[in-house]
Amino acid sequence: MNRQTETVLNYHHRTKHSLERYAKGPESIDWEDQPDQFRRFSGCDMITLPLPGAELKPLFADLDTPETIPAKPLNLVNSGLLLELAFGLSAWKQFGPSRWALRSNPSSGNLHPTEAYLISSGNGFIESGVYHYVSHDHSLERRCRFEGNLPDSGILIGLSSVHWREAWKYGERAFRYCQHDIGHALGALRYAAAALGWSVELAAGCSDDAISQLLGLDRDDFKKMEHEFPDMICRINTQSGNQPLDIKALLEAAQLGDWFGKADSLRAYHMYKWPVIDEVSTAANKPETEEPNWQPLRQPVIASSCTKTASQIIRQRRSAQQFDGKMPALPLTDFYRMLAAVLPSSAAFEPWRWPPKVHLFIFVHRVEGLASGVYALPRHNEALEPLQAATLADFDWQKLPGALPLCRLYSGDCRQIAKTLSCHQPIAGDSAFSLAMVAEFSETVKAAPWLYRRLFWECGLIGQVLYLEAEAAGVRGTGIGCYFDDNVHQVLGIKDDKYQSLYHFTVGKALEDKRLETLPAYGHLKT
Ligand SMILES: Cc1cc2nc3c(=O)[nH]c(=O)nc-3n(C[C@H](O)[C@H](O)[C@H](O)COP(=O)(O)O)c2cc1C
Repeated sequence: MNRQTETVLNYHHRTKHSLERYAKGPESIDWEDQPDQFRRFSGCDMITLPLPGAELKPLFADLDTPETIPAKPLNLVNSGLLLELAFGLSAWKQFGPSRWALRSNPSSGNLHPTEAYLISSGNGFIESGVYHYVSHDHSLERRCRFEGNLPDSGILIGLSSVHWREAWKYGERAFRYCQHDIGHALGALRYAAAALGWSVELAAGCSDDAISQLLGLDRDDFKKMEHEFPDMICRINTQSGNQPLDIKALLEAAQLGDWFGKADSLRAYHMYKWPVIDEVSTAANKPETEEPNWQPLRQPVIASSCTKTASQIIRQRRSAQQFDGKMPALPLTDFYRMLAAVLPSSAAFEPWRWPPKVHLFIFVHRVEGLASGVYALPRHNEALEPLQAATLADFDWQKLPGALPLCRLYSGDCRQIAKTLSCHQPIAGDSAFSLAMVAEFSETVKAAPWLYRRLFWECGLIGQVLYLEAEAAGVRGTGIGCYFDDNVHQVLGIKDDKYQSLYHFTVGKALEDKRLETLPAYGHLKT
């Protein structure tokens, strides 16, 4: 095993929560000292995007067949809509004097470590260059102006993470959450693009160093400890006939271009330091790679009964903080629809070009016609047998009728155990169902340490699909990053790190907190 793999595996094991102890985090938190959620660069030209909030016609259900949605023209209005629906504000919440923003993409602890960039090249409506998206103001800060005539690559979206934002609250485990958030952001981008009749193509072969150069993250423009780390570059395909993506030409343009601005301080006091995050980040740095273009045949999913537009569903997405533990059972078709939507053959996984490595173990609490208990959804056929071999011998693995690869493992009330395993959070037991995302772990990380991050991205993408599917079914979801890793493995009978649980999720009937006032997302831009 090489040093990088060892570092990644050590990081994973030392950042486990367990019933006996939580992973290392700050001993105390001063909320007044929370890092600024909104990064800004001083000294850049600003481009104000057209006022956000426009509704798009396609229904959420139309997103099952995105090729039938007419592509919107690529211009400033629609690029602005893409950014808003993927990463923009969706509401403000107020409780007494406290006020906080929510966004289209969720984030562990609402800390939002993910930063988004738009790269424009020869598209004729925005000067070629690199722009940072400020979700608060719905504007672009021009970080780099490219010189010369570049081939038309339309627009690209770059994503990076400010690890410190997350580590401020969660300490060592924060690196995991940053990766989940990137997976959610990719999902958010896919849904936003599909609503515009566009699609997302992950430039998966790119090295992290290349992403850094292109987004200007390797420049000396950031305060110590407030750096951004490169994650991904996506090309947005807006119509057929886009030119092949020439990353080398863009890199050259960034190298020769004029750069502007310095990152403002996040105004946080760096009381605690988490060197293991820097270590794992270095060990999981991705080199340039040849990536496959794997894609399963699209399977028809169970039709959605949702009559709302995709943009409505995207803007109304929230995390439930409390569920109605006495909710009527979730209709079986809604449950099956959600599960079908997280299979790699569904349209939502179009940007994901690798065979799935994450499988679901589901604690069913309240689903019409289904006995309470533990179920499994292997996300590809060959996963079934090894999963069976790696988990409790007592599990039944009884395949349920129908096209879904859903198996019943155990019948019985699992509400308490689900709650206990998810750091005693009632949302895991009061829901219709909650689940653990179990990844093919050690072989993946041993094949290449940077794949560690991709496993979390896959989990985040699954989570984003569940968030939106839950809204469309009239219920609500919540991502769960806090769970007791090895206690989950114990309950499932997993004995080594061939498989590891990397994320949890829960779906049910949300109870509104009436004490909170909800304010419009961009009211502050209209005054
Ligand atoms: C990776 C991840 C982990 C999360 N973990 C938890 C959790 O353990 N418990 C919880 O109540 N909410 C959790 N959440 C929900 C966030 O707190 C929520 O996304 C954030 O407060 C923003 O609110 P919103 O989703 O309504 O926009 C998680 C979200 C993400 C993306």
